[in-house]
Amino acid sequence: MTAGPTREAIDPVRYISNRSSGKMGYAVAAAGVEQNHEVTLISGPVALSAPAGARLVNVTSAAEMAAAVMEHFTGCDVLVMAAAVADWRPVHPGTQKIKKSDQRMTLELEPTEDILLKILPMKSAQLVIGFAAETQNLLEEARRKLVRKELDLMVANDVSRTDAGFEVDMNEVVFIERDGETRQLPFMPKVEVARHLVKWVEDRIVKKSKKII
Ligand code: CTP
Repeated sequence: MTAGPTREAIDPVRYISNRSSGKMGYAVAAAGVEQNHEVTLISGPVALSAPAGARLVNVTSAAEMAAAVMEHFTGCDVLVMAAAVADWRPVHPGTQKIKKSDQRMTLELEPTEDILLKILPMKSAQLVIGFAAETQNLLEEARRKLVRKELDLMVANDVSRTDAGFEVDMNEVVFIERDGETRQLPFMPKVEVARHLVKWVEDRIVKKSKKII
Protein backbone atom coordinates (compact mmCIF):
# COMPACT_ATOMS: atom_id res chain seq x y z
CA MET A 1 0.00 0.00 0.00
CA THR A 2 1.02 3.56 -0.48
CA ALA A 3 -0.44 6.40 1.55
CA GLY A 4 -0.18 10.09 2.24
CA PRO A 5 1.14 12.96 0.15
CA THR A 6 4.60 13.39 -1.32
CA ARG A 7 6.68 16.52 -0.87
CA GLU A 8 8.70 18.07 -3.67
CA ALA A 9 11.49 20.31 -2.46
CA ILE A 10 11.72 23.96 -3.53
CA ASP A 11 14.72 24.48 -1.26
CA PRO A 12 15.85 22.97 2.08
CA VAL A 13 12.95 24.60 3.96
CA ARG A 14 10.09 24.76 1.45
CA TYR A 15 8.16 22.23 -0.56
CA ILE A 16 5.12 21.61 -2.79
CA SER A 17 2.64 19.08 -1.49
CA ASN A 18 -1.11 18.46 -1.19
CA ARG A 19 -3.83 18.00 1.43
CA SER A 20 -3.63 14.22 1.78
CA SER A 21 -3.59 13.19 5.46
CA GLY A 22 -2.83 9.52 4.79
CA LYS A 23 -5.94 8.43 6.71
CA MET A 24 -7.45 6.41 3.85
CA GLY A 25 -4.24 4.54 3.04
CA TYR A 26 -3.44 3.88 6.69
CA ALA A 27 -6.98 2.54 7.17
CA VAL A 28 -6.44 0.13 4.25
CA ALA A 29 -3.14 -1.01 5.78
CA ALA A 30 -4.88 -1.56 9.15
CA ALA A 31 -7.73 -3.47 7.49
CA GLY A 32 -5.17 -5.68 5.72
CA VAL A 33 -3.33 -6.44 8.97
CA GLU A 34 -6.70 -7.09 10.66
CA GLN A 35 -7.31 -9.87 8.10
CA ASN A 36 -3.81 -11.31 8.66
CA HIS A 37 -2.36 -10.12 5.37
CA GLU A 38 1.31 -9.21 5.15
CA VAL A 39 1.32 -5.43 4.69
CA THR A 40 4.11 -3.11 3.54
CA LEU A 41 3.04 0.50 3.94
CA ILE A 42 5.00 2.95 1.79
CA SER A 43 4.12 6.28 3.30
CA GLY A 44 4.70 9.92 2.52
CA PRO A 45 5.03 12.34 5.46
CA VAL A 46 1.91 12.10 7.65
CA ALA A 47 1.01 12.64 11.31
CA LEU A 48 -0.21 9.07 11.88
CA SER A 49 1.32 5.98 13.45
CA ALA A 50 1.58 2.92 11.28
CA PRO A 51 -0.75 0.07 12.24
CA ALA A 52 1.03 -2.50 14.42
CA GLY A 53 2.00 -5.43 12.28
CA ALA A 54 2.56 -3.44 9.07
CA ARG A 55 6.06 -2.91 7.70
CA LEU A 56 6.56 0.83 7.33
CA VAL A 57 8.71 2.35 4.57
CA ASN A 58 8.95 6.14 4.91
CA VAL A 59 9.49 8.24 1.81
CA THR A 60 9.28 11.96 1.07
CA SER A 61 9.24 12.69 -2.67
CA ALA A 62 7.42 11.13 -5.62
CA ALA A 63 10.78 9.82 -6.89
CA GLU A 64 11.45 8.09 -3.56
CA MET A 65 7.94 6.65 -3.50
CA ALA A 66 8.37 5.38 -7.07
CA ALA A 67 11.67 3.68 -6.13
CA ALA A 68 10.13 2.05 -3.04
CA VAL A 69 7.09 0.78 -4.99
CA MET A 70 9.35 -0.64 -7.73
CA GLU A 71 11.44 -2.40 -5.09
CA HIS A 72 8.45 -4.09 -3.43
CA PHE A 73 6.12 -4.62 -6.40
CA THR A 74 7.47 -7.87 -7.83
CA GLY A 75 7.16 -9.61 -4.47
CA CYS A 76 3.58 -8.52 -3.76
CA ASP A 77 0.15 -9.88 -4.71
CA VAL A 78 -1.74 -6.60 -4.47
CA LEU A 79 -0.74 -2.95 -4.84
CA VAL A 80 -3.08 -0.33 -3.41
CA MET A 81 -1.99 3.18 -4.50
CA ALA A 82 -3.85 5.39 -2.05
CA ALA A 83 -1.04 7.96 -1.98
CA ALA A 84 -1.65 11.42 -3.37
CA VAL A 85 1.55 11.60 -5.39
CA ALA A 86 2.55 15.15 -6.36
CA ASP A 87 2.23 15.57 -10.12
CA TRP A 88 4.98 18.20 -10.50
CA ARG A 89 8.28 19.00 -8.84
CA PRO A 90 10.55 22.05 -9.03
CA VAL A 91 13.12 21.57 -11.80
CA HIS A 92 15.94 23.27 -9.89
CA PRO A 93 15.42 22.94 -6.13
CA GLY A 94 17.67 25.36 -4.24
CA THR A 95 20.53 23.81 -2.31
CA GLN A 96 20.34 26.80 0.08
CA LYS A 97 17.29 28.65 1.36
CA ILE A 98 16.06 31.00 -1.36
CA LYS A 99 16.18 34.53 0.05
CA LYS A 100 13.06 36.66 0.11
CA SER A 101 12.82 39.57 -2.28
CA ASP A 102 10.04 41.96 -3.24
CA GLN A 103 10.13 40.71 -6.83
CA ARG A 104 7.69 38.22 -8.32
CA MET A 105 9.08 34.76 -8.51
CA THR A 106 8.45 32.00 -11.05
CA LEU A 107 8.95 28.40 -10.12
CA GLU A 108 9.64 26.03 -13.00
CA LEU A 109 8.03 22.63 -12.51
CA GLU A 110 8.47 19.32 -14.29
CA PRO A 111 6.18 16.27 -14.13
CA THR A 112 7.00 13.59 -11.57
CA GLU A 113 6.98 9.92 -12.53
CA ASP A 114 3.52 8.33 -12.70
CA ILE A 115 4.09 5.35 -10.44
CA LEU A 116 1.14 3.30 -11.70
CA LEU A 117 2.29 3.71 -15.31
CA LYS A 118 5.88 2.95 -14.34
CA ILE A 119 5.05 -0.43 -12.78
CA LEU A 120 2.92 -1.56 -15.75
CA PRO A 121 5.75 -3.40 -17.56
CA MET A 122 6.56 -5.23 -14.29
CA LYS A 123 2.99 -6.42 -13.78
CA SER A 124 2.32 -10.16 -13.77
CA ALA A 125 -0.48 -11.58 -11.62
CA GLN A 126 -0.73 -8.69 -9.14
CA LEU A 127 -4.00 -6.90 -8.53
CA VAL A 128 -3.48 -3.16 -8.85
CA ILE A 129 -5.88 -0.71 -7.24
CA GLY A 130 -5.85 3.06 -7.63
CA PHE A 131 -7.64 5.92 -5.90
CA ALA A 132 -9.02 8.75 -7.99
CA ALA A 133 -9.25 12.14 -6.33
CA GLU A 134 -11.63 14.30 -8.35
CA THR A 135 -13.36 17.62 -7.99
CA GLN A 136 -15.54 17.22 -11.11
CA ASN A 137 -16.78 14.49 -13.51
CA LEU A 138 -15.97 11.89 -10.84
CA LEU A 139 -16.97 8.68 -12.63
CA GLU A 140 -15.82 9.73 -16.08
CA GLU A 141 -12.38 10.85 -14.88
CA ALA A 142 -11.94 7.84 -12.60
CA ARG A 143 -12.81 5.49 -15.48
CA ARG A 144 -10.40 7.27 -17.80
CA LYS A 145 -7.56 6.76 -15.32
CA LEU A 146 -8.57 3.13 -14.65
CA VAL A 147 -8.20 2.38 -18.37
CA ARG A 148 -5.01 4.44 -18.87
CA LYS A 149 -3.27 2.89 -15.87
CA GLU A 150 -4.69 -0.61 -16.57
CA LEU A 151 -6.04 -0.99 -13.05
CA ASP A 152 -8.16 -3.83 -11.72
CA LEU A 153 -10.13 -1.46 -9.50
CA MET A 154 -10.40 2.29 -9.14
CA VAL A 155 -11.75 3.76 -5.93
CA ALA A 156 -13.24 7.11 -6.90
CA ASN A 157 -13.75 9.87 -4.38
CA ASP A 158 -14.97 13.42 -4.69
CA VAL A 159 -12.39 15.56 -2.89
CA SER A 160 -14.34 18.79 -3.31
CA ARG A 161 -16.66 17.76 -0.44
CA THR A 162 -15.79 19.04 3.02
CA ASP A 163 -17.46 16.14 4.86
CA ALA A 164 -15.65 13.37 2.96
CA GLY A 165 -12.30 12.77 1.27
CA PHE A 166 -9.24 14.82 2.16
CA GLU A 167 -8.24 15.11 5.84
CA VAL A 168 -11.51 13.89 7.43
CA ASP A 169 -12.32 10.44 8.84
CA MET A 170 -15.27 9.80 6.53
CA ASN A 171 -15.46 9.01 2.85
CA GLU A 172 -17.99 8.21 0.16
CA VAL A 173 -16.50 6.24 -2.69
CA VAL A 174 -17.42 4.34 -5.81
CA PHE A 175 -15.66 1.07 -6.68
CA ILE A 176 -15.15 0.92 -10.45
CA GLU A 177 -14.01 -2.45 -11.78
CA ARG A 178 -12.05 -3.06 -14.97
CA ASP A 179 -15.04 -4.72 -16.68
CA GLY A 180 -17.16 -1.64 -16.07
CA GLU A 181 -19.09 -2.78 -13.00
CA THR A 182 -19.49 0.06 -10.50
CA ARG A 183 -20.60 -0.04 -6.87
CA GLN A 184 -21.45 3.08 -4.92
CA LEU A 185 -20.67 2.64 -1.22
CA PRO A 186 -22.65 4.69 1.29
CA PHE A 187 -21.07 7.58 3.26
CA MET A 188 -19.05 5.76 5.92
CA PRO A 189 -15.86 5.96 8.04
CA LYS A 190 -12.63 5.44 6.07
CA VAL A 191 -11.97 2.43 8.28
CA GLU A 192 -15.15 0.83 6.87
CA VAL A 193 -14.28 1.78 3.27
CA ALA A 194 -10.91 0.09 3.90
CA ARG A 195 -12.59 -3.11 5.11
CA HIS A 196 -14.79 -3.18 1.99
CA LEU A 197 -11.67 -2.79 -0.14
CA VAL A 198 -9.82 -5.65 1.57
CA LYS A 199 -12.94 -7.81 1.18
CA TRP A 200 -13.06 -6.93 -2.54
CA VAL A 201 -9.43 -8.02 -2.89
CA GLU A 202 -10.03 -11.27 -1.01
CA ASP A 203 -13.12 -12.10 -3.10
CA ARG A 204 -11.21 -11.33 -6.29
CA ILE A 205 -8.28 -13.53 -5.31
CA VAL A 206 -10.60 -16.42 -4.47
CA LYS A 207 -12.34 -15.97 -7.85
CA LYS A 208 -8.97 -15.91 -9.62
CA SER A 209 -7.69 -19.05 -7.91
CA LYS A 210 -10.96 -20.84 -8.71
CA LYS A 211 -10.41 -19.91 -12.34
CA ILE A 212 -6.94 -21.45 -12.24
CA ILE A 213 -8.36 -24.73 -10.87
N1 CTP B 1 -0.59 8.20 -9.13
C1 CTP B 1 0.66 7.67 -9.37
N2 CTP B 1 1.70 8.49 -9.73
C2 CTP B 1 1.50 9.82 -9.87
C3 CTP B 1 0.20 10.38 -9.65
C4 CTP B 1 -0.81 9.54 -9.28
O1 CTP B 1 0.83 6.45 -9.27
N3 CTP B 1 2.52 10.60 -10.21
C5 CTP B 1 -1.67 7.29 -8.73
C6 CTP B 1 -2.36 7.68 -7.42
O2 CTP B 1 -1.73 7.08 -6.32
C7 CTP B 1 -3.77 7.14 -7.63
C8 CTP B 1 -3.97 7.24 -9.14
O3 CTP B 1 -2.67 7.37 -9.72
O4 CTP B 1 -3.92 5.80 -7.26
C9 CTP B 1 -4.83 8.41 -9.57
O5 CTP B 1 -4.29 9.59 -9.00
P1 CTP B 1 -4.95 11.01 -9.25
O6 CTP B 1 -4.17 12.05 -8.51
O7 CTP B 1 -6.43 10.90 -9.00
O8 CTP B 1 -4.79 11.18 -10.81
P2 CTP B 1 -3.60 11.62 -11.73
O9 CTP B 1 -3.10 10.44 -12.48
O10 CTP B 1 -2.61 12.45 -10.97
O11 CTP B 1 -4.39 12.52 -12.80
P3 CTP B 1 -5.06 13.98 -12.62
O12 CTP B 1 -4.12 14.78 -11.78
O13 CTP B 1 -5.18 14.47 -14.04
O14 CTP B 1 -6.41 13.79 -11.99
